[in-house]
Amino acid sequence: MLLSYLRERLRLTGTKYGCGGGGCGACTVMVSRYQPSTKTILHYSANACLLPVCQLQGAAVTTVEGIGNTKTRVHPVQERIAKAHGSQCGFCTPGMVMSMYTLLRNKPQPNMEDITEALGGNLCRCTGYRPIVDGCKTFSQESNCCQANGNGAGCCLNGDSSPQRSENLFDQEDLLPLDPTQDLIFPPELIVRQQDYQLFRGDRMVWVSPVSLEELIQLKTSHPQAPLVMGNTNIGPDIKFKGAWHPIIISPTRVQELFKVTKTPQGVCIGAGCSLSVVKALLEGLVQEIPEEKTEIYRSLLQQLGNLGGQQIRNVATIGGNIVSAYPNSDLNPVFAAGNCILNVASKRGRQEILLNKDFFVGFGKTSLKPDEVVLSVFIPVSRQGEFMRAFRQAPRKENALATVTTGMRVMFTEGSSVVKELSIYYGGVGPCTVSATKTCAAVIGRKWDEQTLSEAYTQLLDEISLSPSHPGGQVEFRRSLTLSLLFKFNLQMLHKLWEMDNKVGLIGLETNMVTFSGCHKNVWFFFQAVVKDQSGDDPVGRPIMHRSAISQATGEAVYCDDIPKMEGELHLVLVTSTRPHAKILDIDISEALQVPGVVDVITSKDIPGKKFRTFTGIDEDILAQNEVSCVGHMVCAVVADTRNQAKRGAAVVKIGYEDLPGPVFTVEEAIEKQSFFLPKRMIEQGTVCLSFVWAIRLGGQEHFYMETQSMVVVPSGEERELKVYLSCQHPTYAQESIAETLGIPSNRVSCHVKRVGGAFGGKVTKTSIIACITSVAAWKTGRAVRCVLERGEDMLITGARHPVLGKHKVGFMNNGRIMAADLHYYANSGNTADESLLVIEKILLHLDNAYNVPNLRGRSVACKTNLPSNTAFRGFGVPQSMLVTENMINDVAMMLGCNAEEVRGKINMYKEVSLTHYKFEFDPKNLLRCWDECKEKSDYDRRRKSIGQFNQQNRWKKRGMATIPIKYGIAFSDGFLNQAASLVHIYKDGSVLVSHGGTEMGQGIHTKMQQVASRELHIPASLIHITETNTSAVPNTCPSAASFGTDANGMAVKDACETLYQRLEPVRKQNPEGTWQIWVFHIDKQEGQPYAYYTYGACCSEVEVDCLTGDYRTVRTDIVMDIGRSINPSVDIGQIEGAFIQGLGLYTMEELKFSPSGVLYTRGPSQYKIPAVCDIPLQFNGIGEPVLFLGSSVFFAIKDAVAASRVEAGMVGPFTLDSPATPERTCLACNTPFTQKIPASKQGSFQPWALNIP
Ligand SMILES: Cc1cc2nc3c(=O)[nH]c(=O)nc-3n(C[C@H](O)[C@H](O)[C@H](O)COP(=O)(O)OP(=O)(O)OC[C@H]3O[C@@H](n4cnc5c(N)ncnc54)[C@H](O)[C@@H]3O)c2cc1C
Ligand code: FES
Ligand code: FES
Repeated sequence: MLLSYLRERLRLTGTKYGCGGGGCGACTVMVSRYQPSTKTILHYSANACLLPVCQLQGAAVTTVEGIGNTKTRVHPVQERIAKAHGSQCGFCTPGMVMSMYTLLRNKPQPNMEDITEALGGNLCRCTGYRPIVDGCKTFSQESNCCQANGNGAGCCLNGDSSPQRSENLFDQEDLLPLDPTQDLIFPPELIVRQQDYQLFRGDRMVWVSPVSLEELIQLKTSHPQAPLVMGNTNIGPDIKFKGAWHPIIISPTRVQELFKVTKTPQGVCIGAGCSLSVVKALLEGLVQEIPEEKTEIYRSLLQQLGNLGGQQIRNVATIGGNIVSAYPNSDLNPVFAAGNCILNVASKRGRQEILLNKDFFVGFGKTSLKPDEVVLSVFIPVSRQGEFMRAFRQAPRKENALATVTTGMRVMFTEGSSVVKELSIYYGGVGPCTVSATKTCAAVIGRKWDEQTLSEAYTQLLDEISLSPSHPGGQVEFRRSLTLSLLFKFNLQMLHKLWEMDNKVGLIGLETNMVTFSGCHKNVWFFFQAVVKDQSGDDPVGRPIMHRSAISQATGEAVYCDDIPKMEGELHLVLVTSTRPHAKILDIDISEALQVPGVVDVITSKDIPGKKFRTFTGIDEDILAQNEVSCVGHMVCAVVADTRNQAKRGAAVVKIGYEDLPGPVFTVEEAIEKQSFFLPKRMIEQGTVCLSFVWAIRLGGQEHFYMETQSMVVVPSGEERELKVYLSCQHPTYAQESIAETLGIPSNRVSCHVKRVGGAFGGKVTKTSIIACITSVAAWKTGRAVRCVLERGEDMLITGARHPVLGKHKVGFMNNGRIMAADLHYYANSGNTADESLLVIEKILLHLDNAYNVPNLRGRSVACKTNLPSNTAFRGFGVPQSMLVTENMINDVAMMLGCNAEEVRGKINMYKEVSLTHYKFEFDPKNLLRCWDECKEKSDYDRRRKSIGQFNQQNRWKKRGMATIPIKYGIAFSDGFLNQAASLVHIYKDGSVLVSHGGTEMGQGIHTKMQQVASRELHIPASLIHITETNTSAVPNTCPSAASFGTDANGMAVKDACETLYQRLEPVRKQNPEGTWQIWVFHIDKQEGQPYAYYTYGACCSEVEVDCLTGDYRTVRTDIVMDIGRSINPSVDIGQIEGAFIQGLGLYTMEELKFSPSGVLYTRGPSQYKIPAVCDIPLQFNGIGEPVLFLGSSVFFAIKDAVAASRVEAGMVGPFTLDSPATPERTCLACNTPFTQKIPASKQGSFQPWALNIP
């Protein structure tokens, strides 16, 4: 693929690997091709991980390095994303830059929709997207008004009640102008290149690229099983992830017949090779050109195309490929089929037309096409009079996510009446292929489109489209209810049409259930504390300084671990993991692996020269499994080879003999039953609590999904047992100690170096160290440098996630909502090893009071030992789980009393005066109350609450909800010895300063802040100060960069060191008070029973709109008020706050880890595991780290509020269960519409569900 070619062959490492499957956009490049028919150059963004190099003959590829760099000239896109603080860890930044750059090549003045569409295929785990969009927005001519007070005269820039902005986070005045004449030109030699038949022969396969249709048909006749690779978005992932192998591949991308478009009055015939982007543009043009009533099918296709994949996928994926791939949840096939579209097919037997209907789709990925047939084009007819078509899809994320259920529905009414003449309904996602609701349609045809007919149609549909309770993909009840509710949506819209056609059916003002909020995030405003007026202009502390590496990150020059050039003789390591959840290892046969060309060795536990296990909180964990495996994904051994592919091939043939052990444990319920715990259990209590359990809430885990997967290079120096370890981790000292113990050498022989980390979020502490130990053993044994970079799927399988938790609470309260006693019980699913679980369950208990003064409070927590991959630290370290249970309890109390949850939170139960927490920590809640009041005021809570009530009364199928959530968060580690830091500051004779400290830079801007601190203390410009890396040789015994304490601890260390040096310079300064820094320099040759240093406080109000028919929701507005003390750098802190909020939004509403009944993780990449994308930013996001992650739960509780409004319509009041995440599935089922009520529940125990219900 182009990605490995760029990175490994050409050493262009700006293009990043994030997933390898087209799902994250980190590898985005721009491809340019000459179009002979129009004599123009086509530029499009594409994922390098799916682009076969053989297919790029005649194309020019532009990578991030090609558009600008710090040595010559930075491109305006690179500059603006960096200056707008859109680059934190920076791993996603080159991909973002290239998506935006490509857009500007095609449209130098894009609008907001263009920008969000262009960025829709790029994921970022750090920023929350807002600053990236802000940077890109500077190219748009659209108004930058925050519209906080509406977009009319009352805009934020004037009017009394308008919020006053703080100083801008970045200066838009001196930005580099976009000058298209400076762009790279298309190489002229590629315009005149001859089109020849091509053949590339590799070791294991042959790639053939014909030019004419005759050649193509000839090839297909000779090799009917050979796939036609067009966009490679289906074949590529199949080869990579499913191990498909094709000895011959045919690539017909140069066969002109496949790209022809013919427009006729009857419809349009589109070449099968046209990309989905080309099809979209073509249909958009047709919708403008021809009368609206003829474009029903075109508009339905556009509806689907707008949300299908990301732009990079649409730019290469072809219409023919989509049809022939026959995905069960293809978005286009139900529309093609319902719309009576026709395929034109050719083979050596001649040409024929095939109607795209139920007979065409014959099974999973199968069609009725013969193996030697080639699809030439697809004919899409114009719609006729009285004919209407709609398409709907419901997906786990609004954009760039395969649909759960997708549908195309077409009806034709007899002229002048509401009698149905034709009806065609096709669904995707409810069977192995696109399916037709033939019987339902037959039952409706000939009848009037009215309540009675539709009501019978739902019953028929329920019978016709039934799914086994074990259906692959799960979500059976949800899928079945969607088939009904999507038909109901179609019904609502057809009633409108009929009413418009004046057939006296339907009602004026009938709700269509169309979304109220669409389009992209636009509005944002912030306040932050400005620096004091008399602060010197040279003093950077408190100012929104750009991340010090942002520009190099945006140009692709920033070096991440896997960007380090290959060392002489370097080997690659691939891990072999268990396929059994719980089994004895009988033997490990490595003989076949050692025969694989390039394989050098296989490392097992026996090769470890020192300690074979790590001990966490007193519990041992094998580095490599010795006698037993305890989860699927347990590391057993590792293969080292000359290349990564060879190591992978070797790993695939290692044979491990197992003897399964009985009764693996997966869920916390099973763990409780079998008393499978990591001990001790924890308990904390104040007052007297005696209540019985009432409510429970389940909170799923969360994958870290740092964009840079676990990466390391271990280099033996060759003498005195020294090793240099370059790795992407949060705790280099821990890695150093672990490696030394594993190898049985002193720590002084191991130096760990961390330049930067492409995201970590807690996932790069313990797990990274264990993998680093294994890699070091390999380097030790072979005496060669060894590199280990996990693929996304391996990373997700092996390294664990946030602990899923089952929380139970019982509560005693007064009539006014005052909680007098509460008992909370937390069961955390730890997985197969203890890791940091005992600390996590401790922190859960320390935060269970959140912001509330409950006089009698008891908390108990236990770490359940299960046969799932071991879970680990994740941003918040148990707090997001802890507080969700508490807040849910408050919500339940409010619902039981039928009163407003915000009253029960703020007025009634919140800490009001200097108080002691349940662990006797005294604090003053003044700032907590201030945040709460300001948040309610700034979010205009009272007025909006009223208008939400009105909205909900007027709308049956859409409901709005709002929730305000407070937070009180303890800062620092509860183990006092971890709250320390050191710093080493070198002042060189030329005046330049090198600062080393113990924090690792992983996007949180710690190096930038340390530079600001040093600049203030040394009284010199920040430009004289450099921070090169975190290095255990420079600063020993560092603490992890975690617990939101890195800046505090390291900042003080840097401050101390700089102060000392500055004082030492005092005599020299006095001697020459007029001198400069360079001249002066040239002349010289805690825990006391208090778990936290302090609390940080905040509050957040979110409003959502929920589509009760599908469970889909949109965050309409979010207001965050956060007290973070005196900010060293507001832009960095705001970035952290927004990023953490969006990560919390993912945790509580979207991200779901799914395991098979035998404990195999299904969700191993961005295709199956959805993190928030640019489409998920709240439409209005207002506000002023780690603590904020929990505030994402305001969206969860706002959804719950909206669901409660929907349940009222069904006559249901009072508390109800909504587990986290509140996915569309859970939300829709909780709404309890007439459609969900129709779905019969499958009898528990009568079937094996597709996925486990974790925790
Ligand atoms: C990240 C990602 C997200 C996606 N999201 C969505 C989504 O939301 N909705 C959706 O519907 N799809 C989605 N897809 C699927 C995508 O639309 C299809 O993979 C794509 O359309 C296939 O086209 P291609 O040109 O890439 O096919 P290829 O992978 O090149 O080929 C696919 C198959 O089609 C056959 N084929 C191709 N052209 C012809 C022809 N002319 N005649 C005969 N056989 C042919 C090939 O032999 C091969 O078997 C997604 C894919 C990815 C990777
Ligand atoms: S690495 Fe290519 S899309 Fe993720
Ligand atoms: S800055 Fe986007 S992933 Fe880190």
